[in-house]
Amino acid sequence: MPLISHPNLIVGIENAEDAGVYKLREDLAIVQTLDFFTPIVDDPYTFGQVAAANSLSDVYAMGGKPVVAMNIVCFPINKMDISILQDILKGGLNKMREAEVLLVGGHSVEDNELKYGLSVTGTIHPEKVLTNKGAITGDKLILTKPLGTGIINTALKRGLAHEHSVAESIKCMTTLNKKAAELMKEVEVHACTDITGFGLLGHACEMVEGQDVGIVIYSSAVPILPGTEDLAQMGLIPGGTIRNRDFRLSMIERSTEISDERLLILFDAQTSGGLLFALSSQHSEGLLKRLHEGGIRDAAIVGEVVSEPKGKIVTT
Ligand code: CO
Ligand code: CO
Repeated sequence: MPLISHPNLIVGIENAEDAGVYKLREDLAIVQTLDFFTPIVDDPYTFGQVAAANSLSDVYAMGGKPVVAMNIVCFPINKMDISILQDILKGGLNKMREAEVLLVGGHSVEDNELKYGLSVTGTIHPEKVLTNKGAITGDKLILTKPLGTGIINTALKRGLAHEHSVAESIKCMTTLNKKAAELMKEVEVHACTDITGFGLLGHACEMVEGQDVGIVIYSSAVPILPGTEDLAQMGLIPGGTIRNRDFRLSMIERSTEISDERLLILFDAQTSGGLLFALSSQHSEGLLKRLHEGGIRDAAIVGEVVSEPKGKIVTT
């Protein structure tokens, strides 16, 4: 696409970032994002919560504060009861309230397949914009939510997921990244992204692609939802997770101890996943403690930024 540059455009589509950022004044920029998808859970209210939390997450990942949002809805009005849509919208509104975001409108179209999400506008200081680039050698990486929602959702569709796994997965997907983002911003963070469709390793690859640094992932330190390993061993892997691995495999240097299943979990396509951010190692333990005290109990230091191999991810 022919792209237009503008002096006020801080982050545009060429950056493949979580959201776009446009400077309004020297001390104020807007963050704009849009996300919507088909249901990944049966309960409409829960689906609304997950979709809204997921949409809001991209603003948090850029270091912004979401302010207003609009609903985007595709709904099969001739096949489905309108009460389902009402419940989805109530679930979305519940998360917007929790995020202190105002719903200011929306748009719906008739479609064969149900889809829901939000377009979110937030604010940010133009000099405090976080992107997935900028990690520095010696930085530690913190991940704030466990992995496995893709694998558990796949198992759920086939009726093979344990109730406890599903409950934990839903809790994970409906949790806003608001608190994690607020605590993250208490220290200087060099790079941040949220973990969604590309999985932990896919998003980590974006952090090092074309950069002067690489990343080591401590695979045994990565938080994983209960039951995920068993389901992965049963072969319940989403197509997107396999595509993530195949697409990025040339960027991965894998130690022999890590199993094929573990590698797939590290690539598992997440819905409404946690934040992954790089910060200097001197701040990492203190911030991790504050995240745990703030109720983000799964947060963990999952890796570090290294000078070699550049542009690669090493899994240990
Ligand atoms: Co994102
Ligand atoms: Co997104």
